[in-house]
Amino acid sequence: MGFEHWFNKNLNRVWGFIEQRAGISKWALRPQPAFTFKPSYWTGAFVANAFFIQVATGLLLLLYYEPSVAPTLTSCGQPLGTYSTAPAAWCSTYYLIHGVPMGSLLLSSHLYGAYAMLFLAFIHFYRGYYLGAYKKPREFSWMAGTLLLLLTLGMGFTGYILPYTEIAYNATNVGIVLALRLPTLGALTAPFLLANGTPQGLLSRMFALHVLVIPLALGALLYAHIALFESHGIAPPATSDPTQRNVYVKAEEKTQVPFWPQIFFYMTKWALLYLGLLFGIAALWPWQLPTYYGNFAAVASVTEPDWYFLWLFKVVDFYGVTPVIAVGITVVLMLYILALPFLDRSPRRHPRDRPIVVMIGNTLLGFFILLTVWGGLTPGVQILPMAVAERLAPIAIINVLVVALFYLRYRKSYQSRLIARGSAYRLSGAYPVVGGAPRATVSPPSRASEVKSAD
Ligand code: HEM
Repeated sequence: MGFEHWFNKNLNRVWGFIEQRAGISKWALRPQPAFTFKPSYWTGAFVANAFFIQVATGLLLLLYYEPSVAPTLTSCGQPLGTYSTAPAAWCSTYYLIHGVPMGSLLLSSHLYGAYAMLFLAFIHFYRGYYLGAYKKPREFSWMAGTLLLLLTLGMGFTGYILPYTEIAYNATNVGIVLALRLPTLGALTAPFLLANGTPQGLLSRMFALHVLVIPLALGALLYAHIALFESHGIAPPATSDPTQRNVYVKAEEKTQVPFWPQIFFYMTKWALLYLGLLFGIAALWPWQLPTYYGNFAAVASVTEPDWYFLWLFKVVDFYGVTPVIAVGITVVLMLYILALPFLDRSPRRHPRDRPIVVMIGNTLLGFFILLTVWGGLTPGVQILPMAVAERLAPIAIINVLVVALFYLRYRKSYQSRLIARGSAYRLSGAYPVVGGAPRATVSPPSRASEVKSAD
């Protein structure tokens, strides 16, 4: 009996024991069509993976972190024999970096992991946006996702101040001033955010929100998000065919790939790759701790948030933009994203059939990138209206022109192809509504020749 045979036999016995006692195979998620074995179909799973890793590294950090602004009166980076008045929150971070084996790797992984989670969440959001994943019946998945994005931003915001660096303390205060300007909601949330108005009160609130309240809310909402995903299955590729079904029925699952073990191991491969990259980057470029808040001996640092809030900070720098206007812009943006499934209700999901949504998406993305870079290069520098118009207007105008030209060109060629085929479709009129006109009277273009998959 060779080793391989012996090994497999025993592995099967162990697995059989676990399966019989725990029924693990029943925990498996829905089977999926074979074509979904592409990273672009699993952008949400990548975000979820990043979240789980954040929870793991965060719990380890919790063993060392001290959420206090009281001076430690230990040397804390000062020459031996002298005592520092640095706050305990900063000192415990300093100790983690310099005194704990692998501490710097742990902290940097958590910080860069947060950046990665936000970046992946943006990718997941934009994929759903461009491919119309929010359309019927996934409206609730989309809305839960929007709230998840807000909570993820909330994790970043509340975590920034925890090492109690000067730059983070000041930026958090700017953010809180903005939040307090929210009509009605601002006044209601003020006591909740500011606690008793002392720096310790603020730090304690941010700490509680970061390590308990927001992660719990995020976990619960993620559960709902995935449960919704399970009930509809993955969205089929976006095509221009308005009669295309948007869900797979249960009967089709027999021909699909089971979650266990195929999808599970496919995901594990990506999760391990992510972990390797994260640790590699954290080991090669460890995060440097800036000076603490209240260190009057240090040169004052510029107030600057992390990259994902730089765009908002730049908007506040615009001449004439008050905090109320900046908050108003953010609220309108969030409402647009939340309400998108009800604003764009046509059954067509392919981006080339939704020029207005694509135009808005491109413009917002362009603004986001420009404002982020601008905010990073000139934080806190006031910008005159002419300079704002000179930079933002070209992005909007070029987008409108390119999308409009592309759309007109596409409509023309698409229509002539349909006429050549004698199809009942006409782009000048509306597409037949799904489930509306009897299917026998319409002959949708063959998917292979006319309507290529978006992926
Ligand atoms: C913490 C953030 C988020 C996590 C962890 C998450 C997780 C997931 C997961 C695991 C899926 C299953 C399919 C996949 O892996 O892509 C999914 C699907 C989906 N998510 Fe998210 N998501 C998040 C944020 C968002 C956001 C911001 C939106 C949009 C506003 C969104 C909208 C959707 C939609 C529409 C689907 C169904 C997509 C399809 O069927 O192809 N999610 N999400």
